[in-house]
Amino acid sequence: MNYPFWDIPFLGGSMLIAIIAILHVIVSHLAVGGGFYLFLAEFKYSREKDVKFLAYLKSHARFFMLLTTVFGAVSGVGIWFVIALVSPAATSTLIHIFLYGWAIEWVFFLVEILAVILYVYKFDSLAPSSRMQLAFIYMAAAWLSLFIINGIITFMLTPGDYYLTSNFFSAFFNPTFLPSLFFRTVVCIAFAGIFAMFTATFQFEEELREKAVKYASAYLLPALIFMPVFALWYFAMLPGLARDIVTGASALILIFANISAGSAFLMLAAGIAHAWIEPRRFSTIFTILLIIFASTFLATFELVREAVRKPYTLYNRMYSNSIYVDKYNNPEIDPAGFLANLKWCDIKKIDDSNMLAAGREIYRYQCQACHSIEGYNAIRPLVKYWSADFCEASLLKLNTLKKFMPPFFGNDAERSALAHYLFSLNNKIEDKPARR
Ligand code: HEC
Repeated sequence: MNYPFWDIPFLGGSMLIAIIAILHVIVSHLAVGGGFYLFLAEFKYSREKDVKFLAYLKSHARFFMLLTTVFGAVSGVGIWFVIALVSPAATSTLIHIFLYGWAIEWVFFLVEILAVILYVYKFDSLAPSSRMQLAFIYMAAAWLSLFIINGIITFMLTPGDYYLTSNFFSAFFNPTFLPSLFFRTVVCIAFAGIFAMFTATFQFEEELREKAVKYASAYLLPALIFMPVFALWYFAMLPGLARDIVTGASALILIFANISAGSAFLMLAAGIAHAWIEPRRFSTIFTILLIIFASTFLATFELVREAVRKPYTLYNRMYSNSIYVDKYNNPEIDPAGFLANLKWCDIKKIDDSNMLAAGREIYRYQCQACHSIEGYNAIRPLVKYWSADFCEASLLKLNTLKKFMPPFFGNDAERSALAHYLFSLNNKIEDKPARR
């Protein structure tokens, strides 16, 4: 435990990461899918030479560029900021393993934004064939940046045999790499279709609107067919505990998983059906509804994906509270206890005068990664009817109580201090004044 702890009231660090990451992920999936759209729409134009469709494509591309480059870039940097503060140890480990991967990803990102900016600002002056080449470069760079990030994110959940081999490629091409890549790719393409439906509703000529809406609806088809297949494949490659968490070990996550699947189905089915039954009456409000379904689907999907990694940040390697699995796996390994190894905590020895203060520090460093006092996953109501003895006994079995919690780390005095602190959340007890 080499780093200080960042207290974030009410939400907790993991929720803060989740909020920023979800906003980023929605836009970045759109950014990747939009590449396929720009390139294929250019291809469509090269065959049909429909100048009205081209004018629509131009206005679509400008809005698309602004949204994805500005919001995508800012929220992406936001994620770096927050993960480095909330989980410095895990972030450092990931950087050490994937340094070159990340460097390459930034190159792809640079190429991606340069290509789309050139594409939009030189739209009228470029020959159609050059525009199509730029769209292709954008599409390739954007998808390749997904390719890289996907390797890093999936590694956190399924590290494969990396910890045995220390081989970059076995970390990168880990067991969920492919299902996740395919799943996300069809999601990206569907998002591009929904965004194109949205921009199409601003076309006032009915014929053009119908054409643009129907064309956009084709982008939803791959997801309708393949999303369930890739999702099942993904699920099959998860560790057993992760599968259990989705299927009922945590009621909350089971509900989220169902909301996610339901929203995905609604987004695809409603979008395709409306586009084919009554394309001319396609309204902006309706596409906003589709965007809400799309965002709900992806937000809950990402929450579930993060939740099934519990109790780890890096599977089998580091718990969510930044404690390495092997180093502290057995509290008896280190008779000095937990606090003695905590660099950023003044309390090293527990007595009657600092029992609660010590308990509070242990709570911050061991529990607060997943619990808040009374906000997200609040601990106060969870222990409301527990006696001090029961708290103390439960701490011995924390990882049995809920399989997705890490075990408690520390010696008996520390366990007792934490139990006192938990008990004090609902009952009035205080530290005794220090003896002089
Ligand atoms: C990896 C995340 C994580 C960490 C770290 C964690 N918990 Fe939990 N804990 C959870 C989740 C998730 C639940 C389930 C909440 C629910 O059922 O609503 C839970 C439930 C609990 C419960 C209620 C158990 C029950 O059976 O009702 C208690 C008490 C608790 N945690 C205490 C702690 C303490 C004390 C620590 C620190 C030593 C801790 N937790 C660390 C995730 C975590």
